[in-house]
Amino acid sequence: MQYPSFTKEHKSMMAKYLTKEVFDELKDLKTKSGFTLEQAIKSGIDNPDSGIGIYAGDKESYDTFGALFDPIIEEYHGFSKDDKHKSNLNSDELSAPNPDPKNEYIVSTRIRVGRNLADFPLGPAISKEQRDEVENRVSLALGSLEGSLAGKYYPLLGMSEADRVSLIEDHFLFKAGDRFLESAGLNRDWPSGRGIYHNNEKTFLVWINEGDELRIISMQKGGDVKEVFERLVLAISELEKKIKFAFSEHLGYITSCPTNLGTAMRASVHIALPKLAKDMERFKTITDKHHLQIRGVHGEHSQSEGGIYDISNKRRLGITEVQCVQDIYDGVKELIKTEKELKAKKS
Ligand code: ADP
Ligand code: ARG
Repeated sequence: MQYPSFTKEHKSMMAKYLTKEVFDELKDLKTKSGFTLEQAIKSGIDNPDSGIGIYAGDKESYDTFGALFDPIIEEYHGFSKDDKHKSNLNSDELSAPNPDPKNEYIVSTRIRVGRNLADFPLGPAISKEQRDEVENRVSLALGSLEGSLAGKYYPLLGMSEADRVSLIEDHFLFKAGDRFLESAGLNRDWPSGRGIYHNNEKTFLVWINEGDELRIISMQKGGDVKEVFERLVLAISELEKKIKFAFSEHLGYITSCPTNLGTAMRASVHIALPKLAKDMERFKTITDKHHLQIRGVHGEHSQSEGGIYDISNKRRLGITEVQCVQDIYDGVKELIKTEKELKAKKS
């Protein structure tokens, strides 16, 4: 492989940190599952608008290609090579009374974590047989859940187009054909091995074999962040009894994209902020202060609709799960307060 010919359109952290020197150091290395630098960076080369532009094929990738992953992880999470990840899933330590009890701003709250199986490669390096085996093991484990977590697994293979589209539109299911995942090799053999599990109320859901082997999701209407967190914590602890997840003392839970390492947690609200939307500078000052990310209403790389935004924590590594949720909670409180002030001023 030759050193990639980056253009000025290539804005990713991968393009920034893949100097000729780093490239020469890494270009001939391979992990035990056969994952190479070329595969790791393909998504960022094919998609110049990538923000990150790199994926891992297995846990070992983070060591083997550390000269490239480490500075990206440091810039994204503010987490250095010598730091240690920490975990705290104790909801008693979360101070989060509903910030919008009258349901004026927050449409819905969702918290997800990514997980991958300890004894398998990550999605970019997995074989079809291994992916199908992951689907079998995970759906079997999910099938034994009880009480509020009991539900049913719906494989993508055989799902009607109408059901698939309505699950996506209602924000429950992942989209097909994501070009970033496609280039990373994460869409191979689609739709085989992929699917969604959910309880009757669709408040507890698990995606199988999308960007990570599991995305464990708790969501509901309104702004009761603590209830959503508590449901997720219960689900994680039940699943951990049945499945061994890929984990490292340094990087926490191992995920295919370095942005998801650590807690692998993204806590978000869909929130209506029509006044702030007209002053994006002020909006961004508040989200930056609380380490938050703004996404559109149909998820990553989508646009906002009707002044409704997806606000979530950006950092996931080197801070605990409780801190991830506290980041968004504190930020959302300030956003609501500012939106209220702007509303009062105009009327
Ligand atoms: P991920 O959460 O895995 O990072 P996305 O940003 O693609 O991935 O979001 C996945 C789906 O979850 C999208 O349909 C998105 O609209 C939905 N979603 C995210 N946050 C919320 C929320 N607070 N309420 C309802 N749906 C949400
Ligand atoms: N690979 C894409 C990029 O570099 C997404 C990165 C972060 N998001 C994610 N879902 N892993 O822009």
